[in-house]
Amino acid sequence: MTSVELSGKVALVTGASRGIGYGVAEALVARGDRVCITGRNEDALKEAVDRLGADRVIGIAGKAHDETHQAEAVERVMAAFGRVDYLVNNAGTNPVFGPIADLDLNVARKVFDTNVLSALGFAQRTWHAWQKENGGAIVNIASVAGLAPSPFIGAYGVSKAAMINLTQQLAHEFAPRVRVNAIAPAVVKTKFAQALYEGREAEAAASYPLGRLGVPSDIGGAAAFLTSEQSDWVTGQTLVVDGGIFLNAGVG
Ligand SMILES: NC(=O)c1ccc[n+]([C@@H]2O[C@H](COP(=O)([O-])OP(=O)(O)OC[C@H]3O[C@@H](n4cnc5c(N)ncnc54)[C@H](OP(=O)(O)O)[C@@H]3O)[C@@H](O)[C@H]2O)c1
Repeated sequence: MTSVELSGKVALVTGASRGIGYGVAEALVARGDRVCITGRNEDALKEAVDRLGADRVIGIAGKAHDETHQAEAVERVMAAFGRVDYLVNNAGTNPVFGPIADLDLNVARKVFDTNVLSALGFAQRTWHAWQKENGGAIVNIASVAGLAPSPFIGAYGVSKAAMINLTQQLAHEFAPRVRVNAIAPAVVKTKFAQALYEGREAEAAASYPLGRLGVPSDIGGAAAFLTSEQSDWVTGQTLVVDGGIFLNAGVG
């Protein structure tokens, strides 16, 4: 149970039983939004709902790229809360590591399905169900890997670049009713990125001008901003939240 006054707004956050999605849901609940979270594992989702507060949060299990799940999620948010002001497309995958020259194209299709087409599918559905008539905002969780070459995770980088352009396409098409922005994080400490820093966090953090890796609440704060009145004149943008790591591009 939370004592924060309800904002009257409702958000749908995909892939939010842990990690960045959970951090986003936490930030939105903290300011009074009611939130629907998704994820594949039903038990993990239920635990997350209980931690966030079952009086204001519901969970709907499914795979983000599955159109039946997308339809069910949006229908159930509308049934439970009567509106869907904000969509945060966070669910993503990065299943391969290696040169793009040897990339299995079926794996690449899967990456695109989960990272790009799922975001489009959810955006189409929240638009038609609520946002087209009533307004709102969409935030796509991209990555710094979509802004520059990302060796050994090329398919992931290409998919995140597509997500950034999808953000611009949607921002243009959905204006002025709905603002659409992206967030491009560098390494955030989650299960997804664990292999990049586990056992060597201090070393990994040393290359960041701000001296540390990201945590989910860093992205939660950015998503809260992009779904608030404070960003009412911002659309089509990609907010880089990276502890300053991109500043190193000009060094040495
Ligand atoms: N962590 C980073 O350093 C980093 C940096 C840049 C961008 N990102 C992006 O941030 C997003 C979240 O990553 P994260 O680091 O928070 O990952 P994470 O800790 O592994 O959490 C992923 C969440 O999404 C759910 N999920 C995974 N695949 C899903 C699918 N196909 N359909 C529905 N739900 C799914 C997971 O639950 P289930 O496993 O139960 O489905 C979990 O709740 C991704 O789009 C990722 O590309 C992450």
